[in-house]
Amino acid sequence: MHLDDTVCYCFHVTRRKLMNFCRLRRPRVPSLLSECGGAGTGCGWCVPFLKMIFRHWQSGECVPELEEISAQEYARRRSDYIRSGHGKPPPSAKSSAEQKSLDGLSVQRSDDAGAGCGTDADSKGTSSSASGI
Ligand code: FES
Repeated sequence: MHLDDTVCYCFHVTRRKLMNFCRLRRPRVPSLLSECGGAGTGCGWCVPFLKMIFRHWQSGECVPELEEISAQEYARRRSDYIRSGHGKPPPSAKSSAEQKSLDGLSVQRSDDAGAGCGTDADSKGTSSSASGI
């Protein structure tokens, strides 16, 4: 999974955004990653990956599953997860296929250009923690 790949499809949060959040906000526990644009507070699919990102940031240890999964495989697994009824995305969330299509057309947004997401999360008033992280 590359830095610009989406980790949380429900809230369109990339790995880069999460890594910058960790670097700037230094969360004490993985659940605080939910303050990064609401990551993990929708269908719940990305929660294990948020934990991996946290572990990678905190310890610097390599997390093979995180490094080896492709964006396409990640999106496919998330679609399977939703289809099988394990989680329900928020109404505003796009499906993985819709997001993938948009990702192919999109240009780099300024809030996704490595500036971190502390300000972004604050501006949305996101303060809930993801359950189960
Ligand atoms: S993909 Fe992150 S909560 Fe649904």
